Amino acid sequence: METRILKAEGDALKEAAALIRKGEVVAFHTETVYGLGANAFSDEAVKSIFSLKGRPADNPLIVHVHQGYDIGKLLDGEPPYAKVLRRAFLPGPLTMVYPSKGKVSKFVSCGLPTLAIRVPSSPAAQAFLREADLPVAAPSANISKHVSPVTAQHVFDDFNGKIPLILDGGACTGGIESTVLDCTGTVPQILREGLVTREMIASVAGECGVYHAAVGEKPKSPGMAYKHYSPRCRTAYVKTFGEATSLYDEEETKGGKPCILCESGLISRLGGRCFLDLGASGEEMAQRLYALLRRAERTATLLIGIAPSMEGGVMAGVLNRLTRAFGGDV
Ligand code: TXA
Ligand code: MG
Repeated sequence: METRILKAEGDALKEAAALIRKGEVVAFHTETVYGLGANAFSDEAVKSIFSLKGRPADNPLIVHVHQGYDIGKLLDGEPPYAKVLRRAFLPGPLTMVYPSKGKVSKFVSCGLPTLAIRVPSSPAAQAFLREADLPVAAPSANISKHVSPVTAQHVFDDFNGKIPLILDGGACTGGIESTVLDCTGTVPQILREGLVTREMIASVAGECGVYHAAVGEKPKSPGMAYKHYSPRCRTAYVKTFGEATSLYDEEETKGGKPCILCESGLISRLGGRCFLDLGASGEEMAQRLYALLRRAERTATLLIGIAPSMEGGVMAGVLNRLTRAFGGDV
């Protein structure tokens, strides 16, 4: 199959919507990362997302809808705080998990009684979802466990020949996946950290928990159980500048091509060593991270990450993705 990349406008949007209605899979831009979308009402279409990605069958999908879509049709009730949060943050990089009415394919939620809903803010995503006018189930458009895609080219690199169409909306400005928020309890609880931070949610809802699975417990957000976002080169994640440079020099002596991924503030000390500049703020790091990981796997034999010194806000999501990309704690 030929995989076309078309700008997300005009006839391309109509074509994408027609493909979705026919049960095919279309990749599309969102403000966080690109999604791999299919008609959420169709068992066959949803199943094909899992097989295309090589995604574990127990990892549920997020359903995407346009701003005018009546999500009440899909949900079995909504707590008052969720309504307030929707008004504050949607459309935007916040996914909300609700009790499900079971209207979409059972393969979307993998047997869970809940449904994750997201209203992306990217104009390209809104235009596509309006044209389709049905819930579109979509994980990030990467092969399972690989780095999430933040350009149409990244999607092409993973799915060339396997999907008919990629709707190109340019580079994603957010850069890490949406915050996943459990809205089934009395207090909202973050299942996956992202650009809508715990602090932001608490300031609107009064309270906000962050869920961490206990050792041995199956996590509430099954996706969080897996190694993820990993570049296809050797990696090391270290705390200090000294550890990074000694690993670097060792790799270079062996004839390898090392590269250091670190916050902007450390770069002047690297003295001619190859580096990737993660940025100087949480937002900047989120926006750059996945493109840098994909660049590293093409050019380096060993990627050495230095854990950023900042915490809180968007850094919670950035540190989570970094830890998981590097396969564990520093
Ligand atoms: O920004 C994003 O969220 C992107 C774009 C494409 O929208 N999508 C995305 O999808 O990151 P994915 O499939 O890569 O991650 C979905 C996460 C997984 O951790 C999954 O376990 C969780 O959401 N999830 C989905 N449905 C859930 C549910 N009913 N209950 C709990 N967690 C759920
Ligand atoms: Mg993903």
